Amino acid sequence: MRFDTIILGAGAAGMMCAAHCGGRVLVIDHAKAPGEKIRISGGGRCNFTNLYAGPQNFLSQNPHFCKSALARYTQWDFIDLVGRHGIAWHEKTLGQLFCDGSSKQIIAMLLAEMDRAGAELWLHTSLRDLRKTETGFEMVVEREGARNDLSCANVVLATGGKSIPKMGATGLAYDIAAQFGLHVTETRAALVPFTFPDGRFKDLSGVSVPTRLSNDRKSFDEALLFTHRGLSGPAVLQLSSYWREGEAIRVNLIPELPLFDLLRERRQSAGRKALTTELARHLPARLVEYLSTHIPMRGNLADQSDAALQALTDSLSDWALTPSGTEGYRTAEVTLGGIDTDGLSSKTMEARDVPGLYAIGEAVDVTGWLGGYNFQWAWSSGHAAGIAI
Ligand code: FDA
Repeated sequence: MRFDTIILGAGAAGMMCAAHCGGRVLVIDHAKAPGEKIRISGGGRCNFTNLYAGPQNFLSQNPHFCKSALARYTQWDFIDLVGRHGIAWHEKTLGQLFCDGSSKQIIAMLLAEMDRAGAELWLHTSLRDLRKTETGFEMVVEREGARNDLSCANVVLATGGKSIPKMGATGLAYDIAAQFGLHVTETRAALVPFTFPDGRFKDLSGVSVPTRLSNDRKSFDEALLFTHRGLSGPAVLQLSSYWREGEAIRVNLIPELPLFDLLRERRQSAGRKALTTELARHLPARLVEYLSTHIPMRGNLADQSDAALQALTDSLSDWALTPSGTEGYRTAEVTLGGIDTDGLSSKTMEARDVPGLYAIGEAVDVTGWLGGYNFQWAWSSGHAAGIAI
Protein backbone atom coordinates (compact mmCIF):
# COMPACT_ATOMS: atom_id res chain seq x y z
CA MET A 1 0.00 0.00 0.00
CA ARG A 2 1.38 3.40 -0.95
CA PHE A 3 1.02 6.62 1.06
CA ASP A 4 2.58 10.01 0.61
CA THR A 5 3.29 10.34 4.32
CA ILE A 6 3.30 7.92 7.22
CA ILE A 7 3.33 9.42 10.68
CA LEU A 8 4.53 7.17 13.50
CA GLY A 9 2.62 8.11 16.67
CA ALA A 10 -0.94 9.37 17.11
CA GLY A 11 -0.10 11.67 19.99
CA ALA A 12 -0.34 15.45 20.18
CA ALA A 13 2.36 16.17 17.58
CA GLY A 14 1.47 13.35 15.18
CA MET A 15 -2.22 14.25 15.03
CA MET A 16 -1.45 17.94 14.58
CA CYS A 17 0.95 17.12 11.76
CA ALA A 18 -1.58 14.82 10.06
CA ALA A 19 -4.15 17.62 10.13
CA HIS A 20 -1.85 19.84 8.08
CA CYS A 21 -0.18 17.42 5.62
CA GLY A 22 -1.25 17.30 2.02
CA GLY A 23 -1.60 14.03 0.07
CA ARG A 24 -2.47 10.56 1.32
CA VAL A 25 -1.54 10.34 4.98
CA LEU A 26 -1.53 7.41 7.40
CA VAL A 27 -0.97 7.74 11.14
CA ILE A 28 -0.02 4.55 12.98
CA ASP A 29 0.11 3.91 16.71
CA HIS A 30 0.52 0.77 18.80
CA ALA A 31 -1.93 2.03 21.42
CA LYS A 32 -5.63 1.21 21.44
CA ALA A 33 -6.61 4.91 21.43
CA PRO A 34 -5.03 8.09 20.06
CA GLY A 35 -3.72 10.90 22.27
CA GLU A 36 -3.60 8.96 25.53
CA LYS A 37 -1.28 11.51 27.16
CA ILE A 38 -3.62 14.30 26.13
CA ARG A 39 -6.45 12.39 27.81
CA ILE A 40 -4.72 12.14 31.19
CA SER A 41 -3.04 15.55 31.05
CA GLY A 42 -3.90 18.43 33.33
CA GLY A 43 -5.89 16.20 35.66
CA GLY A 44 -8.21 15.29 32.74
CA ARG A 45 -8.63 18.89 31.58
CA CYS A 46 -5.47 19.21 29.43
CA ASN A 47 -3.31 22.26 30.00
CA PHE A 48 -3.19 22.70 26.23
CA THR A 49 -1.01 25.81 25.96
CA ASN A 50 0.31 28.79 27.84
CA LEU A 51 -0.49 32.45 27.18
CA TYR A 52 3.16 33.37 27.67
CA ALA A 53 4.76 30.51 25.70
CA GLY A 54 7.99 31.53 24.03
CA PRO A 55 11.47 30.15 23.39
CA GLN A 56 12.50 31.13 26.93
CA ASN A 57 10.32 28.32 28.31
CA PHE A 58 12.18 25.50 26.57
CA LEU A 59 15.36 23.53 27.21
CA SER A 60 17.48 22.29 24.32
CA GLN A 61 21.13 22.02 23.42
CA ASN A 62 20.27 24.65 20.82
CA PRO A 63 17.89 27.12 22.51
CA HIS A 64 17.30 28.88 19.18
CA PHE A 65 15.95 25.82 17.39
CA CYS A 66 12.37 26.09 18.65
CA LYS A 67 11.98 29.77 17.71
CA SER A 68 10.87 29.40 14.12
CA ALA A 69 8.15 26.78 14.69
CA LEU A 70 6.84 28.53 17.82
CA ALA A 71 6.62 31.83 15.93
CA ARG A 72 4.83 30.34 12.93
CA TYR A 73 2.22 28.44 14.96
CA THR A 74 1.68 30.25 18.24
CA GLN A 75 -0.46 29.70 21.32
CA TRP A 76 -2.93 32.15 19.73
CA ASP A 77 -3.26 29.93 16.66
CA PHE A 78 -4.08 26.97 18.90
CA ILE A 79 -6.48 29.03 21.02
CA ASP A 80 -8.18 30.05 17.80
CA LEU A 81 -8.50 26.39 16.74
CA VAL A 82 -9.94 25.44 20.12
CA GLY A 83 -12.42 28.32 19.81
CA ARG A 84 -13.51 27.22 16.32
CA HIS A 85 -14.34 23.80 17.79
CA GLY A 86 -16.44 25.42 20.49
CA ILE A 87 -14.24 24.18 23.34
CA ALA A 88 -14.58 26.38 26.41
CA TRP A 89 -11.41 27.06 28.39
CA HIS A 90 -10.06 29.06 31.30
CA GLU A 91 -6.74 30.32 32.60
CA LYS A 92 -5.85 28.56 35.83
CA THR A 93 -2.65 30.29 36.86
CA LEU A 94 0.55 31.66 35.29
CA GLY A 95 -0.99 31.73 31.81
CA GLN A 96 -1.88 28.01 31.85
CA LEU A 97 -4.98 27.29 29.76
CA PHE A 98 -7.22 24.31 30.55
CA CYS A 99 -10.45 22.97 29.04
CA ASP A 100 -13.51 23.81 31.14
CA GLY A 101 -14.84 20.37 30.27
CA SER A 102 -12.55 17.47 29.39
CA SER A 103 -9.24 16.80 27.68
CA LYS A 104 -11.18 14.37 25.48
CA GLN A 105 -12.49 17.46 23.65
CA ILE A 106 -8.95 18.22 22.47
CA ILE A 107 -8.54 14.66 21.19
CA ALA A 108 -11.92 14.84 19.42
CA MET A 109 -10.90 18.17 17.88
CA LEU A 110 -7.62 16.75 16.55
CA LEU A 111 -9.38 13.67 15.17
CA ALA A 112 -11.92 15.94 13.44
CA GLU A 113 -9.08 18.00 11.94
CA MET A 114 -7.35 14.81 10.74
CA ASP A 115 -10.60 13.64 9.23
CA ARG A 116 -11.06 16.94 7.44
CA ALA A 117 -7.57 16.54 5.99
CA GLY A 118 -8.41 12.98 4.92
CA ALA A 119 -5.75 11.30 7.07
CA GLU A 120 -6.17 7.63 7.98
CA LEU A 121 -5.50 6.28 11.48
CA TRP A 122 -4.41 2.75 12.26
CA LEU A 123 -4.34 1.83 15.94
CA HIS A 124 -3.01 -1.43 17.45
CA THR A 125 -0.28 -1.15 14.83
CA SER A 126 3.42 -1.78 15.39
CA LEU A 127 6.38 -1.10 13.17
CA ARG A 128 8.37 -4.21 12.29
CA ASP A 129 10.81 -2.87 9.72
CA LEU A 130 11.70 0.46 8.10
CA ARG A 131 14.08 0.97 5.20
CA LYS A 132 15.05 3.85 2.92
CA THR A 133 14.57 3.39 -0.80
CA GLU A 134 15.45 5.58 -3.79
CA THR A 135 11.99 7.12 -3.78
CA GLY A 136 11.26 7.23 -0.07
CA PHE A 137 10.70 4.52 2.50
CA GLU A 138 9.36 1.00 2.80
CA MET A 139 8.03 -0.39 6.01
CA VAL A 140 6.44 -3.48 7.41
CA VAL A 141 3.81 -2.98 10.08
CA GLU A 142 1.73 -5.42 12.04
CA ARG A 143 -1.87 -4.34 12.42
CA GLU A 144 -3.99 -6.40 14.76
CA GLY A 145 -1.78 -9.40 14.07
CA ALA A 146 -1.71 -9.03 10.24
CA ARG A 147 1.37 -8.01 8.24
CA ASN A 148 1.13 -4.96 5.96
CA ASP A 149 3.80 -3.81 3.51
CA LEU A 150 3.71 -0.05 3.10
CA SER A 151 5.68 2.52 1.18
CA CYS A 152 5.76 6.31 1.36
CA ALA A 153 7.72 9.40 0.42
CA ASN A 154 7.84 10.85 3.95
CA VAL A 155 8.11 9.37 7.42
CA VAL A 156 7.39 11.51 10.47
CA LEU A 157 8.77 10.40 13.83
CA ALA A 158 6.15 11.44 16.40
CA THR A 159 6.32 8.66 18.98
CA GLY A 160 7.27 11.00 21.82
CA GLY A 161 9.70 10.33 24.66
CA LYS A 162 10.24 7.59 27.21
CA SER A 163 8.14 8.95 30.05
CA ILE A 164 5.47 6.67 31.49
CA PRO A 165 6.26 3.35 29.77
CA LYS A 166 3.06 1.96 31.29
CA MET A 167 1.18 4.22 28.87
CA GLY A 168 3.03 2.81 25.89
CA ALA A 169 5.98 5.22 25.74
CA THR A 170 8.97 3.71 23.92
CA GLY A 171 12.29 4.92 22.57
CA LEU A 172 11.22 4.10 18.99
CA ALA A 173 11.88 7.59 17.59
CA TYR A 174 15.40 7.57 19.03
CA ASP A 175 16.10 4.09 17.59
CA ILE A 176 14.92 5.11 14.12
CA ALA A 177 16.85 8.38 14.31
CA ALA A 178 19.99 6.43 15.20
CA GLN A 179 19.28 3.95 12.38
CA PHE A 180 19.39 6.86 9.92
CA GLY A 181 22.53 8.37 11.41
CA LEU A 182 20.91 11.15 13.43
CA HIS A 183 22.52 11.92 16.76
CA VAL A 184 20.37 11.57 19.88
CA THR A 185 21.37 13.66 22.90
CA GLU A 186 21.41 12.16 26.39
CA THR A 187 17.83 11.60 27.55
CA ARG A 188 16.60 11.80 31.15
CA ALA A 189 13.37 11.98 33.08
CA ALA A 190 12.18 15.58 33.58
CA LEU A 191 9.22 17.33 35.20
CA VAL A 192 9.54 14.60 37.80
CA PRO A 193 9.37 14.42 41.63
CA PHE A 194 12.55 14.20 43.72
CA THR A 195 13.11 11.22 46.00
CA PHE A 196 14.91 11.01 49.35
CA PRO A 197 16.20 7.67 50.61
CA ASP A 198 15.13 7.80 54.23
CA GLY A 199 11.45 8.66 53.91
CA ARG A 200 12.29 11.85 55.74
CA PHE A 201 9.20 13.76 54.61
CA LYS A 202 6.77 10.90 55.22
CA ASP A 203 5.06 12.71 58.09
CA LEU A 204 4.64 15.82 55.95
CA SER A 205 3.02 13.95 53.08
CA GLY A 206 0.30 16.14 51.54
CA VAL A 207 1.60 19.45 52.92
CA SER A 208 1.91 22.09 50.18
CA VAL A 209 3.65 25.42 50.56
CA PRO A 210 4.53 28.31 48.21
CA THR A 211 8.31 28.43 47.73
CA ARG A 212 11.14 29.82 45.71
CA LEU A 213 13.03 26.70 44.69
CA SER A 214 16.41 27.13 43.08
CA ASN A 215 19.79 25.74 42.19
CA ASP A 216 22.77 27.38 40.52
CA ARG A 217 21.00 27.37 37.14
CA LYS A 218 17.39 28.27 37.75
CA SER A 219 14.79 29.47 40.22
CA PHE A 220 11.02 28.91 40.26
CA ASP A 221 8.38 30.58 42.45
CA GLU A 222 5.68 27.93 42.73
CA ALA A 223 4.21 25.46 45.19
CA LEU A 224 6.21 22.62 46.72
CA LEU A 225 4.44 19.45 47.85
CA PHE A 226 5.83 17.00 50.39
CA THR A 227 5.16 13.36 49.55
CA HIS A 228 5.88 10.08 51.28
CA ARG A 229 8.71 9.53 48.77
CA GLY A 230 10.15 13.05 48.78
CA LEU A 231 9.23 16.32 47.10
CA SER A 232 6.82 17.11 44.29
CA GLY A 233 4.57 20.00 43.23
CA PRO A 234 5.08 22.49 40.39
CA ALA A 235 8.27 24.11 41.76
CA VAL A 236 9.94 20.71 42.13
CA LEU A 237 8.84 19.42 38.72
CA GLN A 238 10.14 22.60 37.09
CA LEU A 239 13.52 22.48 38.83
CA SER A 240 13.96 18.76 38.11
CA SER A 241 14.62 19.64 34.45
CA TYR A 242 17.64 21.69 35.58
CA TRP A 243 18.92 19.26 38.23
CA ARG A 244 21.71 16.70 38.06
CA GLU A 245 22.46 13.79 40.42
CA GLY A 246 24.32 14.74 43.58
CA GLU A 247 23.39 18.42 43.43
CA ALA A 248 21.72 20.33 46.25
CA ILE A 249 18.56 22.37 45.79
CA ARG A 250 17.70 25.41 47.89
CA VAL A 251 14.25 25.95 49.31
CA ASN A 252 13.08 29.42 50.31
CA LEU A 253 9.97 28.78 52.41
CA ILE A 254 9.25 32.49 52.88
CA PRO A 255 9.91 34.03 49.45
CA GLU A 256 7.54 36.97 49.84
CA LEU A 257 7.53 37.31 53.62
CA PRO A 258 9.62 39.90 55.51
CA LEU A 259 9.77 37.40 58.39
CA PHE A 260 12.55 39.00 60.43
CA ASP A 261 10.68 42.34 60.65
CA LEU A 262 7.37 40.60 61.36
CA LEU A 263 8.84 38.53 64.20
CA ARG A 264 10.53 41.56 65.75
CA GLU A 265 7.24 43.42 65.66
CA ARG A 266 5.39 40.49 67.21
CA ARG A 267 8.08 40.16 69.90
CA GLN A 268 6.87 43.60 71.08
CA SER A 269 3.14 43.02 70.74
CA ALA A 270 2.84 39.29 71.56
CA GLY A 271 6.06 38.36 73.35
CA ARG A 272 4.49 35.53 75.36
CA LYS A 273 3.51 33.59 72.28
CA ALA A 274 5.54 30.47 71.49
CA LEU A 275 7.79 31.02 68.49
CA THR A 276 6.42 27.88 66.81
CA THR A 277 2.83 29.11 67.27
CA GLU A 278 3.77 32.39 65.65
CA LEU A 279 5.49 30.64 62.75
CA ALA A 280 2.41 28.48 62.21
CA ARG A 281 0.58 31.68 61.21
CA HIS A 282 2.80 31.82 58.14
CA LEU A 283 3.67 28.19 57.42
CA PRO A 284 1.67 24.93 57.70
CA ALA A 285 1.69 23.77 61.34
CA ARG A 286 2.94 20.28 60.41
CA LEU A 287 5.88 21.81 58.59
CA VAL A 288 6.74 24.03 61.56
CA GLU A 289 6.64 20.99 63.82
CA TYR A 290 8.99 19.12 61.49
CA LEU A 291 11.35 22.07 61.14
CA SER A 292 11.48 22.57 64.91
CA THR A 293 13.31 19.24 65.20
CA HIS A 294 16.02 20.53 62.84
CA ILE A 295 16.22 24.28 63.45
CA PRO A 296 16.42 25.91 66.92
CA MET A 297 13.01 27.51 67.61
CA ARG A 298 12.39 26.85 71.28
CA GLY A 299 10.77 29.35 73.66
CA ASN A 300 8.55 32.39 73.37
CA LEU A 301 8.98 35.32 71.04
CA ALA A 302 10.24 37.42 73.93
CA ASP A 303 13.09 34.94 74.46
CA GLN A 304 14.49 35.54 70.98
CA SER A 305 17.40 37.87 70.32
CA ASP A 306 17.66 39.74 67.03
CA ALA A 307 20.48 37.40 66.09
CA ALA A 308 18.30 34.34 66.80
CA LEU A 309 15.44 35.75 64.71
CA GLN A 310 17.84 36.55 61.89
CA ALA A 311 19.34 33.04 62.02
CA LEU A 312 15.85 31.54 61.91
CA THR A 313 14.86 33.74 58.96
CA ASP A 314 18.05 32.75 57.14
CA SER A 315 17.40 29.05 57.75
CA LEU A 316 13.84 29.26 56.48
CA SER A 317 14.84 31.21 53.38
CA ASP A 318 17.74 28.96 52.43
CA TRP A 319 17.07 25.33 53.30
CA ALA A 320 19.56 23.17 51.40
CA LEU A 321 18.47 19.65 50.48
CA THR A 322 20.13 17.02 48.30
CA PRO A 323 17.67 14.65 46.63
CA SER A 324 18.93 11.11 46.17
CA GLY A 325 17.28 10.93 42.76
CA THR A 326 14.01 11.31 40.93
CA GLU A 327 11.05 9.01 40.41
CA GLY A 328 12.37 8.49 36.87
CA TYR A 329 10.42 7.74 33.71
CA ARG A 330 7.75 5.95 35.74
CA THR A 331 6.13 9.28 36.67
CA ALA A 332 8.05 11.91 34.64
CA GLU A 333 5.81 14.17 32.57
CA VAL A 334 8.43 14.51 29.86
CA THR A 335 11.79 13.32 28.57
CA LEU A 336 14.60 15.84 28.49
CA GLY A 337 16.87 15.56 25.44
CA GLY A 338 16.15 13.53 22.34
CA ILE A 339 16.86 13.76 18.62
CA ASP A 340 19.62 16.33 18.23
CA THR A 341 18.29 19.49 16.61
CA ASP A 342 21.61 19.92 14.76
CA GLY A 343 20.47 17.26 12.33
CA LEU A 344 17.05 18.85 11.69
CA SER A 345 15.75 21.90 9.84
CA SER A 346 14.14 24.29 12.33
CA LYS A 347 11.70 25.41 9.61
CA THR A 348 10.43 22.02 8.46
CA MET A 349 11.67 19.51 11.09
CA GLU A 350 13.12 17.45 8.21
CA ALA A 351 16.40 15.62 8.75
CA ARG A 352 19.13 17.53 6.92
CA ASP A 353 20.80 14.40 5.58
CA VAL A 354 17.78 12.12 5.13
CA PRO A 355 15.27 13.71 2.75
CA GLY A 356 11.71 12.76 3.68
CA LEU A 357 12.45 11.91 7.32
CA TYR A 358 10.91 14.31 9.86
CA ALA A 359 10.93 14.41 13.68
CA ILE A 360 8.45 16.36 15.82
CA GLY A 361 7.15 16.72 19.38
CA GLU A 362 8.77 15.33 22.48
CA ALA A 363 11.05 12.99 20.48
CA VAL A 364 13.11 16.05 19.54
CA ASP A 365 15.59 17.65 21.94
CA VAL A 366 13.18 20.47 22.84
CA THR A 367 11.63 20.22 26.30
CA GLY A 368 9.18 22.68 27.77
CA TRP A 369 8.55 23.81 31.30
CA LEU A 370 5.52 22.64 33.19
CA GLY A 371 2.44 24.67 32.23
CA GLY A 372 1.21 23.83 28.74
CA TYR A 373 4.54 24.43 27.00
CA ASN A 374 5.13 20.83 25.95
CA PHE A 375 1.81 20.64 24.15
CA GLN A 376 2.54 23.98 22.47
CA TRP A 377 5.80 22.49 21.16
CA ALA A 378 3.86 19.46 19.89
CA TRP A 379 1.37 21.73 18.07
CA SER A 380 4.04 24.07 16.66
CA SER A 381 6.49 21.38 15.52
CA GLY A 382 3.67 19.20 14.16
CA HIS A 383 2.33 22.15 12.20
CA ALA A 384 5.82 23.05 10.87
CA ALA A 385 6.36 19.55 9.49
CA GLY A 386 2.77 19.28 8.26
CA ILE A 387 2.80 22.40 6.13
CA ALA A 388 6.27 21.57 4.81
CA ILE A 389 5.03 18.17 3.63
P1 FDA B 1 2.92 11.64 22.76
O1 FDA B 1 3.55 10.89 23.88
O2 FDA B 1 1.76 12.50 23.02
O3 FDA B 1 2.50 10.64 21.59
C1 FDA B 1 3.32 9.60 21.17
C2 FDA B 1 2.45 8.54 20.55
O4 FDA B 1 3.31 7.55 19.98
C3 FDA B 1 1.59 7.82 21.56
O5 FDA B 1 0.26 7.77 21.09
C4 FDA B 1 2.19 6.42 21.68
O6 FDA B 1 1.25 5.41 21.89
C5 FDA B 1 2.86 6.27 20.31
N1 FDA B 1 4.00 5.36 20.34
C6 FDA B 1 5.04 5.35 21.19
N2 FDA B 1 5.88 4.35 20.90
C7 FDA B 1 5.35 3.70 19.83
C8 FDA B 1 5.76 2.57 19.09
N3 FDA B 1 6.89 1.91 19.39
N4 FDA B 1 4.96 2.17 18.06
C9 FDA B 1 3.81 2.82 17.76
N5 FDA B 1 3.37 3.91 18.43
C10 FDA B 1 4.15 4.35 19.46
N6 FDA B 1 2.09 18.78 28.61
C11 FDA B 1 1.44 19.96 28.59
O7 FDA B 1 1.81 20.84 27.81
N7 FDA B 1 0.36 20.17 29.41
C12 FDA B 1 -0.11 19.22 30.27
O8 FDA B 1 -1.12 19.41 30.95
C13 FDA B 1 0.62 17.99 30.34
N8 FDA B 1 0.26 17.05 31.25
C14 FDA B 1 0.91 15.84 31.26
C15 FDA B 1 0.52 14.87 32.19
C16 FDA B 1 1.16 13.64 32.20
C17 FDA B 1 0.77 12.61 33.23
C18 FDA B 1 2.19 13.38 31.26
C19 FDA B 1 2.88 12.03 31.22
C20 FDA B 1 2.59 14.34 30.35
C21 FDA B 1 1.97 15.59 30.34
N9 FDA B 1 2.36 16.59 29.46
C22 FDA B 1 1.70 17.79 29.47
C23 FDA B 1 3.41 16.36 28.46
C24 FDA B 1 2.77 16.03 27.10
O9 FDA B 1 1.81 15.00 27.29
C25 FDA B 1 3.79 15.56 26.08
O10 FDA B 1 4.89 16.44 26.03
C26 FDA B 1 3.15 15.48 24.70
O11 FDA B 1 2.11 14.53 24.73
C27 FDA B 1 4.17 15.08 23.64
O12 FDA B 1 3.49 14.90 22.43
P2 FDA B 1 4.06 13.88 21.35
O13 FDA B 1 3.03 13.79 20.29
O14 FDA B 1 5.45 14.21 20.99
O15 FDA B 1 4.12 12.48 22.13
